[in-house]
Amino acid sequence: MANLWVRKPLSQLLAQAGDSEKGLKRTLGAWNLVALGIGAIIGAGLFVRTAAAAAEAAGPSVTLSFIVAAIGCAFAGLCYAEFAAMIPIAGSAYTYAYATMGEFVAWIIGWALVMEYALGAATVSIAWSEYLNKLLGGGIPYEWCHGPMEGGILNAPALIILLALTLILIKGTQESAFVNAIIVAIKVSIVLIFIAVGWQFIDPSNHTPYMIPEGTAGHEGVFKHGWGGVLGGAAIVFFAFIGFDAVSTAAQEAKNPGRDMPIGILGSLAVCTVLYILFSYVLTGVANWTEFAGAGKEASVAYAIQHHMPGYEWLATAVTVAILAGFSSVILVMLMGQSRVFYSMANDGLIPKVFAELHPKFRTPYKSNMLLFFFVGAFAAFVPGNVAGDLTSFGTLLAFTLVSIGVLFMRRSNPEQHRPFRTPWVPVVPILGALICLGMIVAIDVFTLKAAIVWMVLGFVVYFGYSQRHSKLQK
Ligand code: ALA
Repeated sequence: MANLWVRKPLSQLLAQAGDSEKGLKRTLGAWNLVALGIGAIIGAGLFVRTAAAAAEAAGPSVTLSFIVAAIGCAFAGLCYAEFAAMIPIAGSAYTYAYATMGEFVAWIIGWALVMEYALGAATVSIAWSEYLNKLLGGGIPYEWCHGPMEGGILNAPALIILLALTLILIKGTQESAFVNAIIVAIKVSIVLIFIAVGWQFIDPSNHTPYMIPEGTAGHEGVFKHGWGGVLGGAAIVFFAFIGFDAVSTAAQEAKNPGRDMPIGILGSLAVCTVLYILFSYVLTGVANWTEFAGAGKEASVAYAIQHHMPGYEWLATAVTVAILAGFSSVILVMLMGQSRVFYSMANDGLIPKVFAELHPKFRTPYKSNMLLFFFVGAFAAFVPGNVAGDLTSFGTLLAFTLVSIGVLFMRRSNPEQHRPFRTPWVPVVPILGALICLGMIVAIDVFTLKAAIVWMVLGFVVYFGYSQRHSKLQK
């Protein structure tokens, strides 16, 4: 009789962490980890979805949405930090759940992480396509850069960037800390320049009223105006914070995980939060939020510069190039994160072995990467960015909620275990983290929620039809 709640003993996990130390070099210091986090965090969420959140839900008060999302992430981040310092092993949230809440919950997280990483990669590749088209002066025919749900055929540029990055991943060309640092420097500089230059072009009338009043055309519903709109906006811009948890997947490569994991996770989150609040304040000050529903819907940052910042056309081009580079590193980390989670799940027997097979020469899970390309590519080619983005947020929020709750379980099951970093104010922080993330899940639009439920039900079918029978722990 299978046991849904069977837990992977912590000792077994820690032994695994010790084992793999032979293979992976502990080369990353605190600053590398912060840079890794920022490399994975700043992307389409900031450069595309800020405008979407303003247009669809929050208006200028999207700055408040960023604050709400940041608070939820900070609480969840504190919980991630405790786990990442204590169990420095790949697999991240999935692994933590296996040790604390048992196999079934671990499965749910693993299945939800597919939404985070695989659909996250799809979303950012769609955004990449938007900005490439902008750079080429709109030269790509509409039907070849949009899927059928938006009246096109397929999104070819999104597919191409995914394929290119998949091939790089297979070859094992690791984004060296150096290359990542360069991309991060470019990204952060562009954000700072936009804030500094844009500040002079802020038109206070664009910030008035600061919150969209009830009844504004096209903004019916609880999460479309006022404070509800702020929460609805938070659910949308939450996407911009995804990635700080990816730092925890590098736990096995950290020199001093006990100290540096918390710094990497919380440090990258803090830097990005400050940048995001300033950036969204400037963006909604330079252009009116209503424009982001129409002409400024795609490549909104470049749009705002071109239409409202005379004399700075060069900045629009520089921003676009920087954004393209920046998106690439996000996609790469997402694809890598996904293959690592699958790698762990396949080693545990929950998904087929093929996802853990390594290339004889490159030592990368190449079959997994190729299968992932088809799966992620299908979403990138045929699904609109907003839909993929909202599903990404759902999966991540679910994982954050469960990791927060996991801290409470772990404190009870292994109170004596050495914890290099302890989440402060337990149980308040984990409970608030879980509640805020749940609040954002509720604020996600109904279509996305339905699609997510379908995905999760499919997960149950796979679990009971395959995973439970093949689970190594059950045997
Ligand atoms: N946070 C990442 C982005 O915004 C996923 O692209």
